[in-house]
Amino acid sequence: MKQILIIGIGAGDPDHLTVQAIKAMNRADAFFLMDKGTAKGSLIDHRRYLCEQVIEGRDYRFIEADCPERVRDVPDYRGAVEDLNRDKRGVFEWMIGEQLQDGECGAFLVWGDPALYDSTIRIIEAIAAEGRHAIDYQVIPGISSLQALAARHRVCFNGIGRAFQVTPARRLAEQGWPEGMDSVLVMLDAQDTYRHFTGQNLTIYWGAYVGSADETLIAGPLDEVAERIRETRAELRERHGWIMDSYLLRKRP
Ligand SMILES: C[S@@+](CC[C@H](N)C(=O)[O-])C[C@H]1O[C@@H](n2cnc3c(N)ncnc32)[C@H](O)[C@@H]1O
Repeated sequence: MKQILIIGIGAGDPDHLTVQAIKAMNRADAFFLMDKGTAKGSLIDHRRYLCEQVIEGRDYRFIEADCPERVRDVPDYRGAVEDLNRDKRGVFEWMIGEQLQDGECGAFLVWGDPALYDSTIRIIEAIAAEGRHAIDYQVIPGISSLQALAARHRVCFNGIGRAFQVTPARRLAEQGWPEGMDSVLVMLDAQDTYRHFTGQNLTIYWGAYVGSADETLIAGPLDEVAERIRETRAELRERHGWIMDSYLLRKRP
């Protein structure tokens, strides 16, 4: 039997690692690293750094592979994600099947929390269910980027006794503001989707690379700060080659 740990590592600040995550990392013989290309190489470096910082008195190794890319700008987004997950599963099976020995423990260090817009749990579940590889797996929660964002802006996700929604920007753009909701948390925005919602008395709490040394935060009435956020995003994307940002949109009473 091989043990697989799916460990949430937080959203960029090494201090986001929980005690539970540190204990789990100290059980692993190998860490699976999926390289997403040079621009995002710093995310791989961050994982190596975390291992150096918290693993004590034991040998471990990295099992590395290139991360398959999603085909972009196709009308069938869901199909493209399913294709990507099929390709990722092939890579996972190679890493677990060929590179991890029976009796060993291997760990995925998942950005933020593994339950939030990440496919690792689903892919490992499918591999375990198929039964070709004898694996047991466990999930260790992490501090998500949304929790980090709310903490840095010193706000709650929800109004008192109210519901809130977490959504990918694509869905918000397609379906509009969700009926009856006063707080919406938006992730995975490639298109400055918040700009569709000016003139509606909203406040935005926006953050990029939250928790890291490059953290950038802007908050205020959406109508007043939307343009500044757009310019800042463009500039950061240009400077770093990629951007990771999210935001809370809230209706003002
Ligand atoms: C594929 S999802 C992964 C989310 C992750 N599992 C989590 O718990 O935060 C990637 C999205 O998370 C958000 N994100 C991740 N890290 C972030 C950070 N440090 N600052 C702001 N947003 C972040 C961005 O919206 C990004 O597009």
